[in-house]
Amino acid sequence: MFASTSISAAANVSLLLSVMISLLIYHSVFVGVAFTQFQLFSPHIDRQPSTTLKLSSAPNDELTESKSWRRHALEQLWEERAKMGRTPVFPFKYTGNPRVTLLFKNETATSTGSLKHRYAWALMTWALLEGHVKQGTHVYEASSGNTAASLAFMCRLIGVPFTAIVPDTLEDVKKEHIEHYGGQIVKVPIAERLVKARELADKSNGFFMNQFGNAFLAEEFHESGNYEKQSANMFHEIVTQLNESRLAIPDYFVHAAGTGGTITSIGRYIKKYNLDTQVVFADTQFSVYYDYVLHNRFANQSGSHLWVEPGMAGIGFGPMGPAKKGQTTSLDPAVIDRVLKIPDCASTAAMKVLLENGVSGGTSSGVNLVAALHIGANLSSPRPVTIATILGDPSSYYQTSYLNRDWIAQRFARHGGLEAYYCWISVLREALDNGKDPLQLGRRCPTGNV
Ligand SMILES: Cc1ncc(COP(=O)(O)O)c(C=O)c1O
Ligand SMILES: *[C@@H]1O[C@H](CO)[C@@H](O)[C@H](O)[C@H]1NC(C)=O
Ligand SMILES: *[C@@H]1O[C@H](CO)[C@@H](O)[C@H](O)[C@H]1NC(C)=O
Ligand SMILES: *[C@@H]1O[C@H](CO)[C@@H](O)[C@H](O)[C@H]1NC(C)=O
Ligand SMILES: *[C@@H]1O[C@H](CO)[C@@H](O)[C@H](O)[C@H]1NC(C)=O
Repeated sequence: MFASTSISAAANVSLLLSVMISLLIYHSVFVGVAFTQFQLFSPHIDRQPSTTLKLSSAPNDELTESKSWRRHALEQLWEERAKMGRTPVFPFKYTGNPRVTLLFKNETATSTGSLKHRYAWALMTWALLEGHVKQGTHVYEASSGNTAASLAFMCRLIGVPFTAIVPDTLEDVKKEHIEHYGGQIVKVPIAERLVKARELADKSNGFFMNQFGNAFLAEEFHESGNYEKQSANMFHEIVTQLNESRLAIPDYFVHAAGTGGTITSIGRYIKKYNLDTQVVFADTQFSVYYDYVLHNRFANQSGSHLWVEPGMAGIGFGPMGPAKKGQTTSLDPAVIDRVLKIPDCASTAAMKVLLENGVSGGTSSGVNLVAALHIGANLSSPRPVTIATILGDPSSYYQTSYLNRDWIAQRFARHGGLEAYYCWISVLREALDNGKDPLQLGRRCPTGNV
């Protein structure tokens, strides 16, 4: 149409002429005819049938179908987001230090029982948007159990198959949890999870979700006000909930990291909105993250030789090779203000002490408690502060492991065994009662030969 109506005007107007030239180049490329400058001015062109220049086309049925599948899948996810509501925040009794209000965000209250529920929601939403997951795509994920259970739930929700690649030490109860949501399970040595997941996904033309590298891309860090499609960012919820209870935002946010996705999404939110909250990252004893965050180490070099079993399930970065942001880790040092190292034996004891205080929490909850008590004991100003942290998963997952005497005696033998464990329990009880720093008090506990 262009060619037939405007050729004479175009001959006199250079702007239009250049449009014509580009159209003709486009034309020649696509129909495979080589036009010359001379031919450009030949009347021949006038009579080129306009139909050969296809500027629009009828809808492609296949594309329409996959788009409508995706719309449906996203609708399911938004319905789920509405059901998720906000997980509760509760204060933890810390009588020894009345200056400190210690708050836990209870992520065990999600329908799949851990902080990975909102996280899997974000991963799946992202994977749909980016076109990684389509109708029938088989999703694979490397996990220590919680992400797998939550992703199995999301996959079932939108109707795609799911396989979890988990460490061969996985607790049976976590395995059953994944299977309960229809996930299949492949067990491998802990260090091989990523490689295996990628291999299985490639082989079946499926998608390896890779929470380690992709949480960084998938997790949102937006404030959403009261908009019904609420931000799934955990700190958005905390701020909103505290505000509704007429409480100020926390002075500190304390959390451990596995992929680093959760603390990074929270840190990004805090930094983006310029909130006056210190982001404290509590690392496990033999994890490389401490040095990764502070000194930019282990991005090119593996720290697997430094790892000492059993570690804290689901957290720390140990035997999986180098920590490369966006590939093997989602931890962004740029949003962390402070890093701590917590002994594994202390964190294990903290799980027991949480239970004694009526709180059912898992490995990261133990780390978080010790770290929060350290921060609370070590404040430089006398004003009251609020420390917020996460109850990431329930103690019930660890009855046969981190809460089992025999298991601890055996697996923590090198760390000082039960003697060290009971010592840390008494340290933590004392720290709760007198507000002192558990990491200082714990100097009296045996360290074993690690
Ligand atoms: C109970 C628990 N807490 C914390 C984490 C670590 O969270 P993230 O991977 O977001 O760093 C995990 C990861 O699996 C977990 O299972
Ligand atoms: C956390 O939430 C779970 C699930 O709703 C609940 O059973 C548990 O009592 C809560 N924990 C605390 C300490 O409030
Ligand atoms: C809660 O939010 C409102 C509206 O943004 C603000 O005016 C108020 O100061 C906030 N309250 C607290 C305790 O931060
Ligand atoms: C890692 O290696 C890349 C290229 O090999 C280099 O550009 C980068 O500086 C290295 N990073 C560290 C932390 O050594
Ligand atoms: C905080 O702890 C460090 C070591 O754990 C100590 O050197 C420092 O003096 C403490 N600061 C305060 C204010 O207690």
